[in-house]
Amino acid sequence: MKSVNLGILGLGTVGCGTVNVLHRNATEIARRAGRGINVTRAAVRTLEAPRRCSVDDIELTTDPLEVVNADDVDVVVELIGGYDLARDVVLTAIDNGKHVVTANKALIALHGNEIFARAHEKGVMVAFEAAVAGGIPIIKAIREGLAGNRIEWLAGIINGTGNYILTEMGEEGREFDDVLAEAQELGYAEADPTFDIEGIDAAHKLTIMASIAFGIPLQFDKTFTEGISRVSREDVAYADELGYKVKHLGIARRVGEGIELRVHPTLIPRHRLVANVDGVTNAVVVQGDAVGPTLYYGAGAGADPTASAVVADLVDTVRMMTADPSNQVPHLAFQPDALEDLPILDMKEVETAYYLRLLADDRPGVLAEITRILAEQEISIEALVQKRVEGELVPIILVTHKVQESRMNAAQEQLQSLVAVAGEIVRIRLETLD
Ligand code: HSE
Repeated sequence: MKSVNLGILGLGTVGCGTVNVLHRNATEIARRAGRGINVTRAAVRTLEAPRRCSVDDIELTTDPLEVVNADDVDVVVELIGGYDLARDVVLTAIDNGKHVVTANKALIALHGNEIFARAHEKGVMVAFEAAVAGGIPIIKAIREGLAGNRIEWLAGIINGTGNYILTEMGEEGREFDDVLAEAQELGYAEADPTFDIEGIDAAHKLTIMASIAFGIPLQFDKTFTEGISRVSREDVAYADELGYKVKHLGIARRVGEGIELRVHPTLIPRHRLVANVDGVTNAVVVQGDAVGPTLYYGAGAGADPTASAVVADLVDTVRMMTADPSNQVPHLAFQPDALEDLPILDMKEVETAYYLRLLADDRPGVLAEITRILAEQEISIEALVQKRVEGELVPIILVTHKVQESRMNAAQEQLQSLVAVAGEIVRIRLETLD
């Protein structure tokens, strides 16, 4: 059967990784897909640049539209990233009747609803495995492997840079800025590293996973996002003493008739497998009603791991090219007319446990004042430690049981206004993940 021709947009880390994997594993890939897959065209920023792959048989251009409009291109692989240009070229490719494979999480999280509707109309595939957790086949696992389940919740370490920073702070006692600079040098971080640190990259990925887990439209704008820039080495150490690790988690949970969608630093019990996922590695726990908890672990970024996901999508796409489009796996796992309009809960309504650290005067009655405020908001304390330090102010560390966030907000406001409390109270959410 005739080989399939690819047009790749972007020959950076992932683009060249894809060219190399397609070349290195060409025979295996053709045995799986039933046809050969050749990269015939590519759009690049500069024609004469050093590259990490051979471009000998590839026609290069600096104009992505030239690739998506070429009649001899069957599938477009979008690896340029960003929102605007990527959206335009992907929609043009779809309008031209071409299938699309993308690693662009921002594009899918923000414009996925529009893109999938257009692709459905035109009967083409838009595959995006590489957009979430790099090489881990988490999209396929949730969308197909767990299709018999009602998904209850999922929680993931889905940003390698953030996890690397927290790991180094916890294990090596290094400072935040120092580790971030290293992550940038090693090429893990996004072009704008605030996307990693402030949780935007993780929120893009969580939005996508939640959509295919619960059958809801993509709703990035409703995802609560809190970054890790305020997590201190001190809190990582106190959490450790109490038996917890601090991880930057993306959590999506079905509660009653709503969905929690949140990215924030989280204390998790040290004995959970996911608490021991360190460095740039990613991991996602998915809880289905039939299967129970399942864990997916692996490289969340990098040339070959991300190419692994892109090529898997290509194999799927090539297999589907001769099939009836109505037999395609739906983009968001559920049939487009079966998506539900479940509300995304406001953070005030979310129930979780908390770690609090207060700096307070060391005198009689201060602890009583603190516990009275918590008791008035019906917040139950699970653990309380007062550290012995030199001076008049002492750190008090508290771990609470689960409580609605609105109650914790009210308590925190009152605690902060106590004369005996100095500085800003540190608050980190805590999940037991059971
Ligand atoms: N900046 C991302 C990360 C790359 O650190 O995980 C993969 O999406």
